Amino acid sequence: MNNSDQLVLNEVSTVYGRNRMLDKVSIRVAPGECVSLLGSNGAGKSTVIKAILGLVTIVEGEILFEGEEITGNPTYGTIRSGVSIVPEGKRVFPKMTVHENLLMGAFKEPKSVNLDERFEKVFEHFPRLAERKQQLAGTLSGGEQSMLTIGRGLMGDPRLIIFDEPSLGLAPVLVQQTFEIIRKINEGGTTVFLVEQNAYMTLEISHRGYFLQKGQIIAGGTPEELKRMDTIRKAYFGEA
Ligand SMILES: Nc1ncnc2c1ncn2[C@@H]1O[C@H](COP(=O)(O)OP(=O)(O)O)[C@@H](O)[C@H]1O
Ligand SMILES: [Mg+2]
Repeated sequence: MNNSDQLVLNEVSTVYGRNRMLDKVSIRVAPGECVSLLGSNGAGKSTVIKAILGLVTIVEGEILFEGEEITGNPTYGTIRSGVSIVPEGKRVFPKMTVHENLLMGAFKEPKSVNLDERFEKVFEHFPRLAERKQQLAGTLSGGEQSMLTIGRGLMGDPRLIIFDEPSLGLAPVLVQQTFEIIRKINEGGTTVFLVEQNAYMTLEISHRGYFLQKGQIIAGGTPEELKRMDTIRKAYFGEA
């Protein structure tokens, strides 16, 4: 473990009832990095996010954010300390406008915060949302709803933003756009922890990545290092 890491999971194990799900998972993310967590359906990727947010039972190990232990802390505390989460699927509030949905991403902010600047930043990434500020979120297209979910995550001005499978259910052209936006968010200085199944595209924008299989980390490294590993190449890149 390196003291300068922003997010650290140190040998974290979790259970669902009696079933052990994560088994001694260790991950570290340095400030400014884009680090991905890859693995197939059911590997335990979302469980890693739930562990960070205090939503599952941790039976072993510790989690630190910016040097402070947050193991098992309530979700709101971790979010208040500078973490945003963009959940799986297009989780918008359908009966609320685009503007109101975005406000929900900043509900915890003190009055002194200039929300206009936050809105401007979000609309720079997503001009389409600016045009549709007063439209009900439920009437947006799937791609627009996905933009709105990301925009809401940005409204809290996080230092670390966590994405859970942002490409899920999106048409290929939208996947490309979404990854481009995630890259820009990261280039703007926000640390990114990107959970995905799509290893190929994800590693294109990642500084480092980890592979999770049946609750265990089976490999970690730079994209080049990972692509050179036989087991990873065969299982996740469909190469012989
Ligand atoms: N609340 C829960 N209770 C019991 N089992 C769960 C629960 N949530 C997820 N699981 C199980 O844990 C495993 C990992 O799930 P998950 O972390 O969602 O995987 P991934 O995000 O990689 O697809 C799956 O087998 C899933 O069925
Ligand atoms: Mg998942």
